[in-house]
Amino acid sequence: MKFDTPAGTNPIDQMKVVGKPLDRIDGPQKTTGHARYAYEWHDVAASPAYGYVVGAGIAKGRVTAMELDAARASPGVLAIVTADNAGTLHKGDRNTAPLLGGPKVDHYHQALALVVAETFEQARAAADLVRIRYAPTKGVFDLDAAKKAGNPLQDTDPDARVGNFEKAYGDAPVTLDATYHTPDQSHAMMEPHASLAAWDGDQLTVWTSNQMIAWGKKDLATTLGLPEDKVRLVSPYIGGGFGGKLFIRSDVVLAALGARAAKRPVKLALQRPLIANNTTHRPATVQRIRLGATAEGTLTAIGHESWSGNLSGGSPEEAVQQTKLLYAGANRLAGLRLHTVDLPEGNAMRAPGEAPGLMALEIAMDEMAEKLKLDPVEFRIRNDTQVDPSNPERPFSQRQLVQCLQDGAQRFGWDKRSAVPAQRRDGRWLVGMGVAAGFRNNLVMKSGARVRLDSKGHVTVETDMTDIGTGSYTILGQTAAEMLGVTLDQVTVKLGDSSFPASAGSGGQWGANSATAGVFAACTKLRAAIAGKLGYDADTATFADGKVRDGNRSAALGKAAADGELVAEDSIEFATLEEKYQQSTFAAHFVEVGVDVATGESRIRRMLAVCAAGRILNPKTARSQVIGAMTMGIGAALSEELAVDTRLGFFVNHDLAGYEVPVHADVPHQEVVFLDEADAISSPMKAKGVGELGLCGVSAAVANAIYNATGVRVRSYPITLDKLLGGLPDIA
Ligand code: MOS
Repeated sequence: MKFDTPAGTNPIDQMKVVGKPLDRIDGPQKTTGHARYAYEWHDVAASPAYGYVVGAGIAKGRVTAMELDAARASPGVLAIVTADNAGTLHKGDRNTAPLLGGPKVDHYHQALALVVAETFEQARAAADLVRIRYAPTKGVFDLDAAKKAGNPLQDTDPDARVGNFEKAYGDAPVTLDATYHTPDQSHAMMEPHASLAAWDGDQLTVWTSNQMIAWGKKDLATTLGLPEDKVRLVSPYIGGGFGGKLFIRSDVVLAALGARAAKRPVKLALQRPLIANNTTHRPATVQRIRLGATAEGTLTAIGHESWSGNLSGGSPEEAVQQTKLLYAGANRLAGLRLHTVDLPEGNAMRAPGEAPGLMALEIAMDEMAEKLKLDPVEFRIRNDTQVDPSNPERPFSQRQLVQCLQDGAQRFGWDKRSAVPAQRRDGRWLVGMGVAAGFRNNLVMKSGARVRLDSKGHVTVETDMTDIGTGSYTILGQTAAEMLGVTLDQVTVKLGDSSFPASAGSGGQWGANSATAGVFAACTKLRAAIAGKLGYDADTATFADGKVRDGNRSAALGKAAADGELVAEDSIEFATLEEKYQQSTFAAHFVEVGVDVATGESRIRRMLAVCAAGRILNPKTARSQVIGAMTMGIGAALSEELAVDTRLGFFVNHDLAGYEVPVHADVPHQEVVFLDEADAISSPMKAKGVGELGLCGVSAAVANAIYNATGVRVRSYPITLDKLLGGLPDIA
């Protein structure tokens, strides 16, 4: 099904099942331990062996010798895979550094060897006996140093320019020029990367934990030099991905190589201390923002440049994305600068681009509002735009940012905020409020599905879509139920298997809208098949209460499959509407913090997100997405930072003890409001992405609240107490 004109009325508009806050259908599987994660496939492959990965002990250079004899002689060892014996490996499209390194070492903890043994303990013990000698070369390991050293700049897109930024900025009566820092961050998902690989002749099956099955299958086939149809990936449950599992990692490739070498299925999980440096991370940024405005607070110049680092051939953190679209302003500059840095590969994490970009832009907006003596909510409203500022012919499909801000301000009690900072005390706490706009683009992706109807009227959905803890099972089931006029318990949803039709997968908050639209397409086909089978007119037949009706005729749904299951497969393909309309999602984030006047410790007291993100397919799963994202925003604001050893080139705090994500005690009551929307431009579902929107802007709202509480403006995340202590008021 092509989607190239705005959606008209369709069966989803009934909203009998879609739009209801239904419990997750995979909930009981998970809470009873029956949902199997990648390391828990105990019966699909006979007597698996266990793998343990050895990571590089240097950041850059070459392996000069590998001493493997002691490890080979260690009890239970079946095979040791290294670049020397792995055969020719190619690089998948989506990996920057090879997933098995050697003799060249591209980054610290790059996998150099896999030890396969009868048990996990034997593999780990033998891995300890592997001795690797290196010839290290000098590297540059942090962005500031790379900037100072003039490390090579890699090609990025040319600067995006509108009007004459420099002139307008020079002429503006009120200006701001500020630089912000965001640190390297780690996905820190709960489930580690893990895979079980089994060969049947030249046919490879990998049970793994992956967000994007079709990408993973293709990249694994490419890496191993296999035809794609020889590779099957299975990943029905994923214990968090956050972008770290968008692409296959070393566990997938090494499990396959280990299984080939040991002639046994091989299971392996990346040990937690390996993950931060072996896999990807969100790269640090330095962001310079220049704003120029009239005295009345109309932005006339908006400049945002962002520097980030990556391995040679990597991509920049696209932190200026939102700045091209969020506010009006006739003269604009947005540019990305990418330095070569020899840290592990940087890649997508938790709303890449907008999340770190808004961490800077939305502090800058707060600073500018203060210069203009304008309320920060009012300043944002004053600079709203309903069209793409670089192409005014191109409207937003729907944009209710102003409504989010107004509704949020009223609900949050924004009028009680003191415009002057450091005015409110509650015992030892300095209390302040902050606001930020939230923005994330709505991406749409081709997505396929297959639906089956049996003679009992039961419906089965099959697609390689993943559920990374988001609620995909439930909303895909709701979509099929709505389309075929049955209740959710009449639908079985099967996901995460590359033998099913390729879907949009889970990434960039495109999953829910795109994948349900794929199920919509397949169900549309199935409805036609059902009508045909019953001799009804497909255009006028209606599906409700387990029955199909056409005029005064009616039949039980299952009757259409009385002499055999009916199967329909289709995909949704998006075209051209993206060119005519800018599709984005919007939020207003409000935060109240307390800062301990003596210690500088910050505590979140209240949070509110008001979101405008199209039709909400399931308010319960959507809310869970948003509160999880808001929690990530707390982490990014207050604690999350990969500490870089700038001499040796690795992330030091590479476990969950040293890399601090928020825990329950850090998270207050969170309120989430969804504005009533349905966006006919986005898909037949009229939905949009919402998961990542919940994060975008949150950290800046925290930073702005801390400023309001203390009067200390911190432009470098995370906002730890050492950055506040010097500026806190005297307490004596
Ligand atoms: Mo998301 S960082 O695109 O999984």
